Amino acid sequence: MSRKPTTYWDYIRVEDLLSLQSGLGEDDSALANDEVMFITIHQIDELWFKLAIRELVAVRNLFARPRVPEQALSAAVRGIRRIALLFHQASSHFALMETMTTRDYLAFRDKLSPASGFQSAQMREIEILLGLEDEQRIPLGHEGSYFAALRNPDGTDSAASRRVARRLEDRPTLHEAIDEWLYRTPIDGSEPDAEDDEARVAAFVDGYLEAHAGELARAGELAEHDALTDRDRARLRERYRKEREGAAAFLRAEDTPEEERRRTARIRAALVLIEGYRELPLLAWPRQVIDGVVELEQAFVIFRQRHARMVERLIGRRTGTGGSAGVDYLDQTALKYRVFHDVWAVRTIQIRRDALPKLTHESAYGIEPGM
Ligand code: HEM
Repeated sequence: MSRKPTTYWDYIRVEDLLSLQSGLGEDDSALANDEVMFITIHQIDELWFKLAIRELVAVRNLFARPRVPEQALSAAVRGIRRIALLFHQASSHFALMETMTTRDYLAFRDKLSPASGFQSAQMREIEILLGLEDEQRIPLGHEGSYFAALRNPDGTDSAASRRVARRLEDRPTLHEAIDEWLYRTPIDGSEPDAEDDEARVAAFVDGYLEAHAGELARAGELAEHDALTDRDRARLRERYRKEREGAAAFLRAEDTPEEERRRTARIRAALVLIEGYRELPLLAWPRQVIDGVVELEQAFVIFRQRHARMVERLIGRRTGTGGSAGVDYLDQTALKYRVFHDVWAVRTIQIRRDALPKLTHESAYGIEPGM
């Protein structure tokens, strides 16, 4: 039996889609263009969020496997880069929002109150999937927790609160899954379950720290050369000393509780290894993954910052419709809502390729020693 020929309008559901920009009214004919644009941009962003969630789940599932096949990493990188791009798309809509003036927005703003983007369940799902923990969240204000704001005004569960509650149960997060994968990375050829693994990881870290200290000494000398006063020289020396000690404390995971130290140190050593020795064939794709993760988190931070600048331009520093401190709250989220701290931190301690110590087990990464 031949099927009915598909039409564009049926497949894309164009009429359904165009009937959705009326806000609380029957249709959008009585609304100002500004308000229809305001609703449409939010809807487009929610659709980008939907795609981002699907990609995040796929990438997370891949890294949650007990063994991640090498060939799967290119698909993971594609997914991660797509999510970053989705956030860049969403950020670009804020410029369109800025074609509206403060007074244009004030004309319909009261209608929204106390609703707010703070109630975007999909945004919360993305944060949760990435690995933002509840304890990291900045309190909004009168609603209490971010979760309470997702409930109906009478305190009953809503589609939004149910969606987020389900996501909170959905573990591991991308951060946890990637950490687990990094943890299993051979460090200078040593696997985590090898008897002498701890000593071999420590030897790798010591070698790296020595090379890092050499690089800092070199940079310090160059900086001191241009210093005008003894006080400046002393300040610079102190700064480089702190950097050296910070690198050692970071790679030895001195900031983590004793029982987690070995695991964290192994993850951080893996990051240093992947970034530093990226030319080795087996580290090429892992390095792309790490770079993608930075790109993704950076795109998310840029989205938060761009949103905050648009909000400042439109409503200044007044209280948000959701009851937060408005721009001050949004700026704090841009500053503090980071998930992949170690991936960023490793950038501070990377060194020149020429300064890297030679690996003792280079062949473990797919090339013959000495090649
Ligand atoms: C005229 C345009 C907009 C204004 C004035 C505005 C203002 C605000 C303010 C003041 C907040 C802080 C919470 C509150 O007290 O309400 C907020 C939160 C938020 N807005 Fe917007 N917004 C606008 C457009 C958008 C758009 C287009 C999106 C895209 C989805 C968006 C997404 C969000 C999200 C996700 C939050 C929660 C942020 C967080 O808690 O981390 N906003 N917005």
